[in-house]
Amino acid sequence: MTKKQRKILVTSALPYANGPIHLGHLVEYIQTDIWVRFQKMRGHSCYYVCADDAHGTPIMLRAQQEGITPEQLIEQVSKEHQRDFAGFSVGFDNYHSTHSPENKELAEAIYLKLRDEGHIDRRVINQAYDPEKEMFLPDRFVRGECPKCGAADQPGDNCDVCGTTYDPLELKNPVSVISGATPIKKDSEHFFFKVTDFEDMLKDWMKAGHLQPAIANKLEEWFEIGLNDWDISRDKPYFGFEIPDAPGKYFYVWLDAPIGYFASFKNLCDRTGLDFDEYLAADSDAELYHFIGKDIIRFHGLFWPALLSGAGMKTPTAIFAHGFLTVNGQKMSKSRGTFIKAETYLNHLNPEYLRYYFAGKLGSGIDDIDLSLEDFQRRVNSDLVGKVVNIASRCAGFITKRFDGKLGSEIENPDLIQAIIDAGESIGQSYKDREYSRAMREIMILADQVNQYIDDRKPWVVAKQEGADAELQTICTTGLNGFRILLSYLKPVLPVMAEKAEAFLNIDPLNWDSIDQLLLDHEINKFKPLMTRVEEKAIKAMIEDSKQTMENTPQKTVSAMLEKDPIAEEISFDDFAKIDLRIAKIVKAEHVEGADKLLRLTLDIGEERNVFAGIKSAYQPEDLEGKLTVMVANLAPRKMRFGLSEGMVLAAGPGGKDLFVLHPDEGAQPGMRVK
Ligand code: MSP
Ligand code: ZN
Repeated sequence: MTKKQRKILVTSALPYANGPIHLGHLVEYIQTDIWVRFQKMRGHSCYYVCADDAHGTPIMLRAQQEGITPEQLIEQVSKEHQRDFAGFSVGFDNYHSTHSPENKELAEAIYLKLRDEGHIDRRVINQAYDPEKEMFLPDRFVRGECPKCGAADQPGDNCDVCGTTYDPLELKNPVSVISGATPIKKDSEHFFFKVTDFEDMLKDWMKAGHLQPAIANKLEEWFEIGLNDWDISRDKPYFGFEIPDAPGKYFYVWLDAPIGYFASFKNLCDRTGLDFDEYLAADSDAELYHFIGKDIIRFHGLFWPALLSGAGMKTPTAIFAHGFLTVNGQKMSKSRGTFIKAETYLNHLNPEYLRYYFAGKLGSGIDDIDLSLEDFQRRVNSDLVGKVVNIASRCAGFITKRFDGKLGSEIENPDLIQAIIDAGESIGQSYKDREYSRAMREIMILADQVNQYIDDRKPWVVAKQEGADAELQTICTTGLNGFRILLSYLKPVLPVMAEKAEAFLNIDPLNWDSIDQLLLDHEINKFKPLMTRVEEKAIKAMIEDSKQTMENTPQKTVSAMLEKDPIAEEISFDDFAKIDLRIAKIVKAEHVEGADKLLRLTLDIGEERNVFAGIKSAYQPEDLEGKLTVMVANLAPRKMRFGLSEGMVLAAGPGGKDLFVLHPDEGAQPGMRVK
C-alpha cells in the first residue's frame, strides 16, 4: 500500500541578525528540526526553510556602533547563525535573508495588492523623535519614569514594575536611549494595514484551522477587545525596504519578516527547480506550518494570516507555538552564566545531548521548559548512554570477536522484537503531534525491555559455556535488532548518533518504512562508542565561559539597556545569615527638605535609629507613625546628602503608591529578631 505523499512547507521564526543564537532559540529550531526529520523519514516531501531577520532599527544602530554597514553586519551574523545551526544538526533546506531581492519583490507585490484592494490607510501620527540623532524612536528606545507608578528608568512601551502599557511620550522625564537627548513630539504620516477588514476571515480561519488552544484563546481575546489597524511603515533613517509609492517611508520590519519565509522558499525553488506555486498558491493542496515562540503569536496568529488572505495567498495550515526556556528554573542570566550561546555550548558539550534533553521536555503546548543542568546530566547519562548505547556495547563485542562480525540467522525472542516494532505506530503519532516527551518515554521503556532481556539471558555467561556459540550469537543478534529499531525511532532527535549506528550496523539509512525488516545473516562493523557520558566538569566550564563571553559581547550596549532587572548574584546561606532583621517601631516619620522620594524615619529597635527610606510615593508620614516594620539592623551606616542612614527598612511592591512597608502582627515587639 502506498501512502499519500504529503507536500509540507515548514518554517521556524527568523532570528534577528543582531545577536548570537543561544540555547533559548535552540528550543525552537530543535523542535522544528525533529518534526521535519520525522516527516522526511515518513517519506513525505517536506521542506524546512528559514532566514535571518535582517531589518529594523536595532540592526541599523548596532552596525553604526561597530562602524560597519548594516549589510556587513548581517552578512557576518548570518555566517555565525548558520555555523551554529549546523553545529546542532538543524537541517534547513534553505537559509536565506529578509534583506534579499526575493523578499523585496514579494513584500512589494503583497503591499501593492493590499493597497489596490483598499486595505491600506494613511494617517498622520505623533511620535517620539530624537532631535539630536534626527530620527523617530521605537518605543523601547525611549526610557523614563512610569506615568502610573513613578518607577524610574522604564522602557517606552510598558512598565516592568507595574505592567501598565503606555505611549513613550507619556513617560515622565523621557530620554532617548540612543543619544540621551530629551525626545520631542513630531508628526509623520504612517501607513496602516486594516486588520479589521479581516475579522470574519480570521474567525473562520480560527475555527477551521488547527490552532493550539492557547493561540485560539488569544485570538478570541483580541476579537473581544476589538482589532486595531496595524502600523506597517517607518520613517527614514531605517534599514529595510522603501515602500514603493512612498519615498522616505520603509516597511516596518515585522511586515517583511514573515514574508521572508516565502522569500527563502522562493530562493530554494529558483535554485532547485521546485515549483513555488505548487506549495504556496492559495488553492494548493500543500500544508504550511510555522513554528514560533509564544512571544510572537500576535504577528503570526493575527497579522500574518490577514495579510496573506488580503494578498490572495495561502494561509497557514497551523501555527505551532512553544514556551520559553529557563535554566535551572530561572530566566537565562548573563551574570549567572546561564545565558549560554550556541557557540559556547558547542565548545564544551555534544549537541545531541541537548537535542535529546529538549525532546524529553517538549510537548505540544506553550508551557515554558526548564533546562536543569543536573537533570540534564543525569537524564542523558542514564537514558542515552546507560540504556540505548549500552544495548549495542553489550552485544557487539561478542559478534565481532566470536563470529567475525556476522549476525545470526534468527532472533530468539520474536515477541519482544514484535512489540518494539508495534510501538512504532504510537511513537510516530507522538512525533506527529509534537509530543516528543511522550515519544522519548515510550522509546526508553522499550530500551529498558531490551536491557532486561540481555540481563536475563546474560551473554557474558553464555559466552563461557561450551557449545553455546549458536545461543550466544542469537542473543546478541536479538539485542542488536532491538537496538536497530530503537535507533530508527530516535533518528529524528539524534541524527548524528543514528548515522554512526548505520555505519556500525553497516546498513542503509534508517527510515520509518523499513523498521520491521530484521537484520539477519548480516555482517556488522566493529563497535565504537556512539556517545560518551556528560561530564560535570564540562558543564561547569561552559557556565564559566558563558559568564566571560557575555561580558565581552559588543551588542551588550543596546541589549543591556533593554534587558529587564536580572536577579542578583547568588549568595550563600552564610551570607544570608549575616543579615540581622529586627522589628522596628516607626516612632517618627517626616518629609526631607529637597528629597522627592525619601522620608526620614526614626525607628525604635530597643535603641533608636535614623533611617532614610524611599517610600514617599506610597505613604504620608503621619500614616506611618506608631506602625511596625522590619529593618536590616546591621547594615553599615551610610552618609547621605541629608544625613546619616543607620539601616534599611524592608518594603515590597511594584512601586509608586503600591509600596508596602511590612507591618508585622500584634505580638511583635520592637527589637525582636525576625527569623
Ligand atoms: N525576528 C523575530 C521573528 C520573526 S519571524 C517572521 C524574532 N527573532 S528572535 O531572534 O528574537 O527569536 C527567534 C525565535 O526564537 C522566536 O520564535 C522566539 O520566540 C524564540 N526564542 C527566543 N528566545 C527564546 C527563549 N529563551 N526560549 C524559547 N524560545 C525563544 O522574534
Ligand atoms: Zn509603573
